[in-house]
Amino acid sequence: MDERPFRVCVVGASGKLGRYMIRHALDRGYEVVGVCREQSVGKLAEFAGRITVVPGATDDRQVIRRAVAGCDGVLTVLVPWGVKGYSTGTAQAVLDHAPPGARLVFSCGWHITRDGQDVYGLGLRVFLKVFGPLARLARFADLADQVEACRRVFASDTRWTVVRGSNLEEGESQGLPVWSRHVGDPVLKSNLTRRADFALFMVAALADDELVHEAPAIVGCRTPSALAHAQPA
Ligand SMILES: NC(=O)c1ccc[n+]([C@@H]2O[C@H](COP(=O)([O-])OP(=O)(O)OC[C@H]3O[C@@H](n4cnc5c(N)ncnc54)[C@H](OP(=O)(O)O)[C@@H]3O)[C@@H](O)[C@H]2O)c1
Repeated sequence: MDERPFRVCVVGASGKLGRYMIRHALDRGYEVVGVCREQSVGKLAEFAGRITVVPGATDDRQVIRRAVAGCDGVLTVLVPWGVKGYSTGTAQAVLDHAPPGARLVFSCGWHITRDGQDVYGLGLRVFLKVFGPLARLARFADLADQVEACRRVFASDTRWTVVRGSNLEEGESQGLPVWSRHVGDPVLKSNLTRRADFALFMVAALADDELVHEAPAIVGCRTPSALAHAQPA
């Protein structure tokens, strides 16, 4: 019998979401490999001796190839920063190099749509119309890069899940967020999730085969909309 612990790679490990995911993964007894930019390795000091760190850009294919070798799951933080296709390069490297059959879980925001059936409120529509072009003009971020990254994930034949986060807040965990297939569904109306619980959902998704080939949009389980509309388990 295989007694080896579940081995998970966290790509984008040094960010806030990445560090929460590492904590949840260690709590479950998983072996953790973290990938982050060289200049951010210090942000992982609290995990010294408990995780393996592979320093490097997350869109560096050789870095990812090394980091995901032998992993049962890969948790990837997709961020739109910069205008050089960082998200797309990161997603493609993970898709290409993760071991066959590994569970791949990617993070993004509600603005990503899988089937075009999401219904967005005015606030998010204005944000995307204004922030998107301005961020690209300032060469600060490129939302289209995250869109392309997710398009490639959706089209892949890997065992993927794309977790779409609502607005985020800090604070103690309140439990596993609830989810729905489409933004605009009443259960999601509160549009708020604790970052610790976003991370909890990502890590839990590794072991939840019902989420394979799903793009769940999540919301905190104690928000008013979740309490009003969540289905009993
Ligand atoms: N923030 C929100 O309100 C929000 C809402 C919904 C969904 N999300 C999703 O949640 C996930 C985490 O987002 P977060 O905002 O909470 O951020 P975060 O977890 O703090 O992560 C930010 C990540 O971006 C990296 N990064 C920062 N600047 C970069 C640059 N110039 N080039 C390359 N990488 C850079 C960071 O790496 P270093 O540690 O090396 O700097 C870190 O890995 C993302 O997938 C995001 O789409 C966020």
